[in-house]
Amino acid sequence: MKLPFLGVDFVVEALGEDDVRHLPALHAEDFVRPWTTHEFASLLEQDPVFGFAVRQVGTRNNALAGFVLARLVAGEGEILTIAVARAHRRRGLGRDLMEAVLRELHAQRAEALFLEVDETNAAASALYRRLGFREVARRPAYYEHTGTTRRTDALVMRRDLR
Ligand SMILES: CC(C)(COP(=O)(O)OP(=O)(O)OC[C@H]1O[C@@H](n2cnc3c(N)ncnc32)[C@H](O)[C@@H]1OP(=O)(O)O)[C@@H](O)C(=O)NCCC(=O)NCCS
Repeated sequence: MKLPFLGVDFVVEALGEDDVRHLPALHAEDFVRPWTTHEFASLLEQDPVFGFAVRQVGTRNNALAGFVLARLVAGEGEILTIAVARAHRRRGLGRDLMEAVLRELHAQRAEALFLEVDETNAAASALYRRLGFREVARRPAYYEHTGTTRRTDALVMRRDLR
């Protein structure tokens, strides 16, 4: 898929082995405890785990602009993590990554897709709601925030795929 945006093209593809070493830096842009290269590699070795990358066409090695990791177990999909580089947000790339996961799960005849999101993460919550996810549970005080005792709830969201 090619997405023309202000003269910049992006392409969504299956995440490859060469991408793994680039994932921690992108993850660290927002996550308090970013996953390491080893953690990403171990996850991707697991059979039910799959992922997609969105790349900026025409840059050196088609630089990674975002990625999503998901898994499918017993007919239910789960988003493990998703991130789009700050420089490329609000261009529809997060939506395109989520739609790539949804297409894969439809092809695998999954029944539903679940995810967890911090109740204060307005951007991610808005993206998920726009894609038809609805809150089905809440994990109180689930997320810690560095340098403060503040804790925020996790919303568990679900989208039916049948
Ligand atoms: C959440 C995230 C992946 C969204 O990626 P993105 O590429 O910027 O999102 P998109 O451009 O595809 O947005 C699609 C829609 O989501 C909603 N949305 C996205 N970002 C938003 C924001 N900051 N505020 C309000 N709505 C937002 C909008 O409805 C948007 O459509 P619009 O631009 O036509 O209004 C990105 O903000 C990110 O990487 N955040 C840090 C990591 C993170 O929080 N991951 C999720 C953990 S659960």
